[in-house]
Amino acid sequence: MARITFIQPDGSRQVLESGEDETVMLVGVRHNVAKLPADCGGQLACASCMVEVAEPWRAAVGGPGLDEGDMIEDALGMRPPGRRLSCQVRITEALDGLEVRLPETQG
Ligand code: FES
Repeated sequence: MARITFIQPDGSRQVLESGEDETVMLVGVRHNVAKLPADCGGQLACASCMVEVAEPWRAAVGGPGLDEGDMIEDALGMRPPGRRLSCQVRITEALDGLEVRLPETQG
């Protein structure tokens, strides 16, 4: 288990505990985090689960995979640093304390 902090555009924070073998998206959806519709349920088909990984965590989380990166670029016209689709970020013990920011609007 790990603690994940979701930060809304207004700066409000929710610190949530992950379950076993979950992605960042699943933790957020399970707790009804706002601005995280995740319409496709984690099938890498909607780009509505975007988060910005806080800078200190980017190396530990890593960058997007090939298809994920293409989806981010299709949605935003660019690949902003730290941007990930949260359904593709699997939580490990090493990510305990991870902070992610929700965008104002989803792709
Ligand atoms: S939930 Fe649809 S791409 Fe992540």
